[in-house]
Amino acid sequence: MNDTRPRLILLHGFPFDGTLWEPQMSGLADAARVLTPDLRGFGRDEREVPDAMTMDAFADDVIALLDEQRIDRAVIGGLSMGGYVALSIVERYPDRVQALVLCNTRATADTLEAREGRYATAMRALEQGMDVIARGMVPQLIMPRTRTERPELATWLEELMKRQRPDAVAAASLGMALRPDRMALLPRITVPTLIITGEADTLMPLPTSQAMADAIPDNHLVIVPGAAHVSNLENAGFFNAELSAFLRGLP
Ligand code: MLT
Repeated sequence: MNDTRPRLILLHGFPFDGTLWEPQMSGLADAARVLTPDLRGFGRDEREVPDAMTMDAFADDVIALLDEQRIDRAVIGGLSMGGYVALSIVERYPDRVQALVLCNTRATADTLEAREGRYATAMRALEQGMDVIARGMVPQLIMPRTRTERPELATWLEELMKRQRPDAVAAASLGMALRPDRMALLPRITVPTLIITGEADTLMPLPTSQAMADAIPDNHLVIVPGAAHVSNLENAGFFNAELSAFLRGLP
């Protein structure tokens, strides 16, 4: 029988790899054929990275993967940095996008201050390694309550970050600093778009998602309760139910 499930490409955030989407790989199998690639230099991807890996370069890699797998169009989803890549894809390769899923992300460029932070992160990764970065990031990713009630999730996230290559982390950090503002693109997005964020995401506060929802014509905004930045992990059941409903409703 013909498999009519849409193709869903989920792009991970920084500094993770495709494993970030573990609860979605099995949880969404009825609703989509899910691919969770490691972006260049992350996870099992052993390719060299340039000094700065731009979001457009990551996007080009994703399109090359679609070509390789003979996938004409797919639902493109991304969390945070993965969302920056998804926006690059919809702007530069609109014909390859069936629908869009923007999780815990933003369309604006970095402020000057945020850029300074990226340079510092890149230097820290190269000079001190991933342990320091991983330890410092966990509190920003999940709610304090989750850290207390599910310490194994905090440990899992920390280990995931520690496994990443410092040169890839530095390159992605510098690449994010270079990304353009894509707010003007949003009104031109014609595909159905699901915007998801966590109720307690301090890295991408709710107004950030609301601003995208105000600008994208065909969108649905979902706020995940009991979740901060990695809403797909912290409340995977709710996240998967919303994403499944969106996928099943696609024309
Ligand atoms: C991410 O989770 O990918 C990062 O928080 C993105 C960012 O630093 O802008």
